Amino acid sequence: MNLNITCIPGDGIGPEILSEAKKVLLKMAEVYSHEILFTDILMGGASIDAHGVPLTEDAVLKAKKADAVLMGSIGGDPVVSPWYKLEPKLRPEAGLLKLRKELNLFANLRPAVLYDELKEACPLREEIASCGFDMLIIRELTGGLYFGERKTVIENGLRKAYDTLVYDENEVRRIAVKAFEIASKRKNQVISVDKANVLDSSRLWRSVVDEVKKDYPDVTLSHMLVDNCAMQLVKNPAQFDVILTENMFGDILSDEASMIAGSIGMLPSASLNETKFGLYEPSHGSAPDIAGLDLANPLATILSAAMMLTYSFSLDKEAAAIEKAVKQVLREGYRTGDIYSDKAASGLTKVGCRKMGELVAERI
Ligand code: IPM
Ligand code: MG
Repeated sequence: MNLNITCIPGDGIGPEILSEAKKVLLKMAEVYSHEILFTDILMGGASIDAHGVPLTEDAVLKAKKADAVLMGSIGGDPVVSPWYKLEPKLRPEAGLLKLRKELNLFANLRPAVLYDELKEACPLREEIASCGFDMLIIRELTGGLYFGERKTVIENGLRKAYDTLVYDENEVRRIAVKAFEIASKRKNQVISVDKANVLDSSRLWRSVVDEVKKDYPDVTLSHMLVDNCAMQLVKNPAQFDVILTENMFGDILSDEASMIAGSIGMLPSASLNETKFGLYEPSHGSAPDIAGLDLANPLATILSAAMMLTYSFSLDKEAAAIEKAVKQVLREGYRTGDIYSDKAASGLTKVGCRKMGELVAERI
């Protein structure tokens, strides 16, 4: 099969982690006789430095032409980076939001799994961690607070800022359908998370999700308030299968879920539209403090590449081979700094980003 993949190295640790994911994909292609064509585009700070904008129209076109987009990470340190002196719509993150919108990537899938091999990196109490968990957060990605009207004005001499949380029923329906479809291939359970005790948008969300549920008699649905969900994630994460939620809640809850999975450096993601096209990226940021030091954990990007094989190319066997190789490397005790623990008896080997990529590639 020919795989035409547009890559976004981005900023900070982005180029390092992406090149390890490419290494792993090339090894996969060699073993399973596929042809990969990588085309790089600029986004975020790298694009600002080269073109003055975080995403050019040409880059959008190149992304649209590909079968899938694989990304490292974008953005810099908001305190020291000159990118954050620019007006908001010219900052690095605006490039990512524009790409999500232009490509209509409304469904963001963020799996959070506690690998047996990483139980020691889980910050939860032993009796909670020992139950393990395997959940999928399905986050709406092109609506809500991120894309509603916003402005900052001066009224009666006071600075005042507005952000608008808006959803129409079609936006809720399509992401709910996605969640029920996916849940029916997992453990048949959707927990929809909202703030229906306060927000109108959540009350609409809840009623549309209830309507969609009627088409999926085998899937159980319950609703949970977002504040309770934040608590349940640390109290009893094993209760979750599919979490369905809106954009901002999903942003926050997925960081929490990644932390209880051991490290944000482990969490992949897929952002999908109605077709097989998708954008795949780690859920973490660009960690400018460790950029270029060969310290980053490339596993979230490598696992994002595996999700790409599943969702955009239907190469399930190849995706499973990558996931298996990652588990094997962890089982053998190799750890990047973020998942390393130096307890004397741990028997772990600390490795850098490049070595971690090589180890995974070798095991495919
Ligand atoms: C994420 C990130 C982005 C988001 C930022 C970089 C705009 O935090 O993908 O979770 O908030 O969606
Ligand atoms: Mg986030």
